[in-house]
Amino acid sequence: MKLADNKATLSFSNGSPKIELPVYSGSVGPDVIDIRKLYAQTGMFTYDPGFMSTAACQSTITYIDGDKGELLYRGYPIEQIATNCDFLETCHLLLYGNLPDVAAKAKFTKTVTNHTMVNEQMQFFLRGFRRDAHPMAIMTGLVGALSAFYHDSTDINNPEHREISAIRLIAKMPTLVAMAYKYSVGQPFMYPKNNLGYAGNFLHMMFATPCEQYTVNPVIERALDRIFILHADHEQNASTSTVRLCGSSGTNPFAAIAAGVACLWGPAHGGANEAALNMLEDIQKMGGVSKVGEFISQVKDKNSGIKLMGFGHRVYKNYDPRAKLMQETCREVLSSLGLENDPLFKLAMALEKIALEDDYFVQRKLYPNVDFYSGIVQRAIGIPTSLFTAVFALARTVGWIAQLNEMIGDPEYKIGRPRQLFTGSEQRQVVPIGQR
Ligand code: ACO
Repeated sequence: MKLADNKATLSFSNGSPKIELPVYSGSVGPDVIDIRKLYAQTGMFTYDPGFMSTAACQSTITYIDGDKGELLYRGYPIEQIATNCDFLETCHLLLYGNLPDVAAKAKFTKTVTNHTMVNEQMQFFLRGFRRDAHPMAIMTGLVGALSAFYHDSTDINNPEHREISAIRLIAKMPTLVAMAYKYSVGQPFMYPKNNLGYAGNFLHMMFATPCEQYTVNPVIERALDRIFILHADHEQNASTSTVRLCGSSGTNPFAAIAAGVACLWGPAHGGANEAALNMLEDIQKMGGVSKVGEFISQVKDKNSGIKLMGFGHRVYKNYDPRAKLMQETCREVLSSLGLENDPLFKLAMALEKIALEDDYFVQRKLYPNVDFYSGIVQRAIGIPTSLFTAVFALARTVGWIAQLNEMIGDPEYKIGRPRQLFTGSEQRQVVPIGQR
């Protein structure tokens, strides 16, 4: 970041002296006002719950222009990455800053592939969960437990430890998600097959059984790979900021990523794909496309507490570029599976059309986000609804790690410690229990 030509001046109506604050420019996007010395200079904090106007770090990884609906990974538009690269190339890009050439890709793929198995003992840990536990409850536990299994890569301040834990996490997440699924349906765990690609291997671990040969469908493999690419990183969203905050205390990388998994679970964030599909199924049960108008009226009624899940975004005030790509993938998958007339897809298209024309959504700039169509694709692939967010976590792991490693390498990084505006009781005296 560099100092901008202008400075910000903060003045007060009570006559306190005004102060000047430095302004920094990034390579693209809004400038920032540096308020780090504000408290020392004025005795005041800033107030910004929800981080509406606060940049919590500097980053070189992902850039979003929410008004234009633009998403760049290390400067490359998501549309170009989704059509020209696969997920492991995307991981290389996010982690190391550059797209690999053929040799670098082969080396990276080999390294990740060598780590796809998990310690055999992990299955005993997994078996401690109830069979009907939510997969995200299991994933939060399993990812946290990795720190108990891989002691040799838990020092966040050691670059070699960070590198090996990064590879381990990227390699083992598909294995863990598939194990969580197999456990829930009572089938044997399938070991990874290292002659398969990253997404193909996940499909194998999910849907193969020891009884018969399983062949990966290339259209589905490519669709899943695209889901992974589209979810790989999204700058300082809630779960990524959670990973950064958690990691800022110096905790180990597995613990920090487990915190990200926990945060992602919420329906306002990664849980929205599950919530969006449940919503579509509910409308379908009510009568499908003919009930869309009625449902939209409920959404617009503030007292109903109903939201159009998969719609709206804190940053995008335009069509989420990932939603466009996901809609394209959705069509491809449904047509390759002979499900062109899938009623939920038709319903989603009808909902989208009505919402995009409705004043309520237009005025608030509410557009479909990535989760609006990803659930339909995952359902067509055969992934159960309750596993959608775990698939999101699998894909986002690389982004979390890239952001965590960037933070640790940043000389300006400090433990994250927000301040508060205290509105509780002033100091008071404890009255002995018998006199209260
Ligand atoms: N349905 C109906 N109304 C909505 C929706 C929605 N999906 N999203 C926002 N609004 C309305 C709000 O009620 C608010 O209206 P008001 O100004 O009359 O009070 C206005 O639009 C602004 O919304 P906020 O909630 O203030 O926006 P915020 O940036 O805080 O929230 C969020 C963004 C959480 C994504 C919200 O749009 C939402 O809950 N969407 C549904 C859940 C979802 O799809 N989440 C996935 C996000 S993408 C991801 O994590 C991959």
